[in-house]
Amino acid sequence: MKRILITLAAASCMLCACTSGNESSDPRVNSLMKRMTLDEKIGQLVLFTSDWSVTGPTMRQGYIDDIRSGRCGNIFNAYTADYTRKLQEIAVNETRLGIPLLFGYDVIHGFRTIFPINLGIAASWDVPAIEASARIAAREASAAGLHWTYSPMCDVCVDPRWGRISEGSGEDPYLGSQVAAAMTRGYQGDDLSDPVTILACVKHFAAYGAPQAGRDYNTVDMSERWLREFYLPPYKAAVDAGALSVMASFNELDGVPATANSFLLKDILRDEWGFEGFVVSDYTGINEMVCHGYAADEADAGRLAINAGMDMDMQSASYFNYLKDLVKSGKVSRKTLDESVRRVLNVKAALGLFDDPFKYCSPEREASETLTEENKAFARKLAAESMVLLSNDGVLPLKKGEKIAVIGSLADSKDDLLGSWRGAGEVRSVPVSILEAIREANGGNVIYAEGCKERGEDRSGFSKALTAALGASKVIMVIGENNNWTGEAASRSDIHIPGVQSELLRKIAATGKPVAVVLLNGRPLDLSAELPYAGAMLEAWYPGTMGGYAVADVLFGEVNPGGKLPVTFPRTLGQVPIYHYAKNTGRPYVHPEAKYESRYLDVPNEPLFAFGHGLSYTRFDYSEIELSSPAFSGDGSITAEIILTNSGERAGGETVQLYIRDLVGSVTRPVKQLKSFSKVYLEPGESKTVSFVIDKSMLEFYRKDMSYGAESGDFKVFIGGASDKVREASFSYEE
Ligand code: NOJ
Repeated sequence: MKRILITLAAASCMLCACTSGNESSDPRVNSLMKRMTLDEKIGQLVLFTSDWSVTGPTMRQGYIDDIRSGRCGNIFNAYTADYTRKLQEIAVNETRLGIPLLFGYDVIHGFRTIFPINLGIAASWDVPAIEASARIAAREASAAGLHWTYSPMCDVCVDPRWGRISEGSGEDPYLGSQVAAAMTRGYQGDDLSDPVTILACVKHFAAYGAPQAGRDYNTVDMSERWLREFYLPPYKAAVDAGALSVMASFNELDGVPATANSFLLKDILRDEWGFEGFVVSDYTGINEMVCHGYAADEADAGRLAINAGMDMDMQSASYFNYLKDLVKSGKVSRKTLDESVRRVLNVKAALGLFDDPFKYCSPEREASETLTEENKAFARKLAAESMVLLSNDGVLPLKKGEKIAVIGSLADSKDDLLGSWRGAGEVRSVPVSILEAIREANGGNVIYAEGCKERGEDRSGFSKALTAALGASKVIMVIGENNNWTGEAASRSDIHIPGVQSELLRKIAATGKPVAVVLLNGRPLDLSAELPYAGAMLEAWYPGTMGGYAVADVLFGEVNPGGKLPVTFPRTLGQVPIYHYAKNTGRPYVHPEAKYESRYLDVPNEPLFAFGHGLSYTRFDYSEIELSSPAFSGDGSITAEIILTNSGERAGGETVQLYIRDLVGSVTRPVKQLKSFSKVYLEPGESKTVSFVIDKSMLEFYRKDMSYGAESGDFKVFIGGASDKVREASFSYEE
């Protein structure tokens, strides 16, 4: 991969007092650096899991002895105020230098109060609410002794086969950047030493969301231009927002595992972006370089990693076992070691751990600030806001009092509401399933039949389900994927609704009863087979602790759905990869009867549901676009305005989206690219003018020579409620 010479403004380190180079502004760090032995220094670069783990085998049971000997300075998967205090006491009182431990955990979409999965959170397009959700997660996690979350997950993904698409913000670099920055701000606040804030970790750096064939951990390869334009922006947005740790991804890029990829970890992250925090490997990522065929053995892997800029080793024990010899033999310089150690200590100082190592473990706060009524109310609101009404012929909203049949095993599952990576979220904290929430909302006027499970071939419940449907005036079918079919190591080669759920839907629809489908899933699914049989389809993702209530809120119209898809839903897996920022090609598909155009013979090019799509119980009308001027130049700007009218009968929110096309570039440009959005709430009959400022920053890209900037020429601007439903206008720009 060609190294390019671009100097981007270095991110300023707003949150900590650290300085790069050989000195820290915290004298305690400088003093420690002078006194630490080689073993103690290496210990600060070692991260071991506590006894139990989620993603892999616990490699060493003796982590408590390692803490005591000063050879393990960081622990993950340990929480609760009491337990972290016990471990911290060992580090502080029983080690020679008393350096506090750093406690990390996967607080991904909430800690105890679980919010919708991240793909759902992104579907809200509500940036302040997303920031607030991370703030709540930080409050709960920090009370339980945690300092560090492995979030935000910034991996752009255009392949629904990949199970971890559920953990990110979807396909779009701009939306992904807004979410990544908001979550970082939410976790870290503006004072990292405040005990209610925690350290963010930008992951998985980089391009983990682009594994070939959607198979987790698989090879990633793409041009540097594509990487920079479509994959790097969310990571950078989180770094710019002040995130002080970054996790390298498992995948290789351009033949080099990210874990030891100095192009990523040094050239881009440190030299271009000015990142001042520390980099951690992913779980056993260092040792995995042996399997990659990049390192000869685990010692070699350690050498390659630290020399490429990998500061901390998560769970490989490569640094633990081999770094001392590597330093002694000169294969790793003392300078390299010291730089990594200093980075870790600087972050510990920024967290305030040298002032009070126990400030984060607070049994009182843990009791009073966890799963509060306020947190749960917020989770319910965000869950409802994340839901996307994919289709509706009028079957929704339901009227209270009418007899409802609820069908599907997922309707009766509290566990599935939490999705994957639910942190310390527990099923016993989920107050109601979807079924129970519908019962509560409808005064018990509900008949339930499981019908079938979400997997398997068992049709024995079909007849009861049909009887239930026939006895009701409307049917709610809750179908989708079991929650452990998404997330890490949960790739699928088929994105249909699994099992016999679809078959049951067809039979229920044949009764003539109106059916609304509620989907629980963590990826775009191929819903072509179900769409004709569903009077309405509501994408509920995995909506979290309060998800049962939130689904009922939307079904009964207490909340008017306003979520928009953060990712394209294909009509068949054969269209993948599919995303809204596609290029035009030399033979764009224009004529239905023409052969030699970029098209499929068997399906249309268009997806089933486009990026940005999402309906409402009300109707929003868009005026034509008004531009303040047809042209601008240099650092000037123009405004693009539309009048949005709520012409329906309910109040509702609409996410107005702005896309841009650069008609001719020194390299080809997408036909449409999201550049801004605005969330607007309107009462019935109300109109509002929605304005966007278009300036040079919206036109910039990596030009032919890889410099970043805008080019003079003609542009189109599109504004609408979905990427495929837009008004358009033209303007020109002069550099
Ligand atoms: C592996 C996952 O890839 C990563 O996202 C997670 O943060 C770590 N394990 C730690 O649990």
